[in-house]
Amino acid sequence: MAEGCLCEETYPKIDAIISEKGAVPNSLIEILHAVQEEIGYLPQAVQEYIAEALGMSAGTVEGVVSFYSFFTTVPRGRHTIKVCQGTACYVRGGKRLLESVTKHCGCGVGETSEGQRFSLDVVRCIGACGLSPVMMVGDDVYDRVKPTRVAEILDKYE
Ligand code: FES
Repeated sequence: MAEGCLCEETYPKIDAIISEKGAVPNSLIEILHAVQEEIGYLPQAVQEYIAEALGMSAGTVEGVVSFYSFFTTVPRGRHTIKVCQGTACYVRGGKRLLESVTKHCGCGVGETSEGQRFSLDVVRCIGACGLSPVMMVGDDVYDRVKPTRVAEILDKYE
């Protein structure tokens, strides 16, 4: 579970992940995934720590982290909103839905709102096209969402 904590206990946890996955460059992506899952994000100091443990340059690790959109270098919000922008959702109001979500959650796509309440992402189809437009907050799925419902939906999440 992501805690967003970068404190003294973080490094032993990273060490444990590295020994489990193997301290070799081929394990890098798996390690980055597991570390992000554990502490919530991949700040510079953590990237450098992992690079050293794997005998890689910090620049290489940074390149991998910035290449993949699922890695983040800043703490994520407590709730991740995903607004579907796949074709079915897009043509049935997904664009207006995204505009409404952006307005109400207080951050743009790929960003985290103040106080780390929400992070906002777009996704390309979550397999519920018949119920479009669709959005998720954490694991909760909301279908046929009208922009006017967004405020009420987001109010449920502290
Ligand atoms: S396009 Fe949005 S669920 Fe498929």
